Amino acid sequence: MNKQLWIIANWKSNKNIREALEWIDKVGPELENRLHVKVVVCPAFTDIEEVKKAVLVGNYPLIVGAQDVSPFAEGPYTGEESARILSELVDLAILGHFERRENFGETDQMISEKVQQAKKFNITPLVCVQGKEIKVPEGVNLIAYEPIFAIGSGNPDTPQNAALVAQGLKEQYGEDLEVLYGGSVTSDNSKAFLQQEELSGLLIGKSSLDPEEFVKIVKIAYLI
Ligand code: 13P
Repeated sequence: MNKQLWIIANWKSNKNIREALEWIDKVGPELENRLHVKVVVCPAFTDIEEVKKAVLVGNYPLIVGAQDVSPFAEGPYTGEESARILSELVDLAILGHFERRENFGETDQMISEKVQQAKKFNITPLVCVQGKEIKVPEGVNLIAYEPIFAIGSGNPDTPQNAALVAQGLKEQYGEDLEVLYGGSVTSDNSKAFLQQEELSGLLIGKSSLDPEEFVKIVKIAYLI
């Protein structure tokens, strides 16, 4: 039996609606219904609704996610996107990404509150950890190991080390934990990460912006 894999595109702060829809038009028709591979796209908030519509119209096997969720419930929190509002459109949310911890002062406490909000509205939390020292909030089953040196640098961790970190995290938090790897993933190195027994997929930044490159990575996952 193939192991369950996640291939997750994190567009970060890139692509307007037109560019997002061009990506969907190219990637969507290439996706196949493979039970062992879940493909997710996490666009900018302003793209999400149009992306979701295009996925539904095309009937593509593509899950739509968000790159963040408010730590607060719906209410007087200017500029925030609450989990209840987002839950109409997304099924997963990336939480605690290094770029948010670093640039927006996100703390473990805030990330834990975001996880609670996401879960309350059936949004799967994908929590990013930068190493074994980061605390994984309770109730989280899906995490991404993203070593800081590897993010956007063109200098990925080794698949062997990523697998060792994943193993350590599972020893700490339970064997059911699914651990993804993120950091300078490309179509050239993705197979070596996906082949690691301890890893359950990839969180992809820069390489996910290019539809051809992203499709290549998804097709590699189909063959694992
Ligand atoms: P890059 O793929 O651009 O290195 O970004 C990865 C990342 O942000 C991991 O979460």
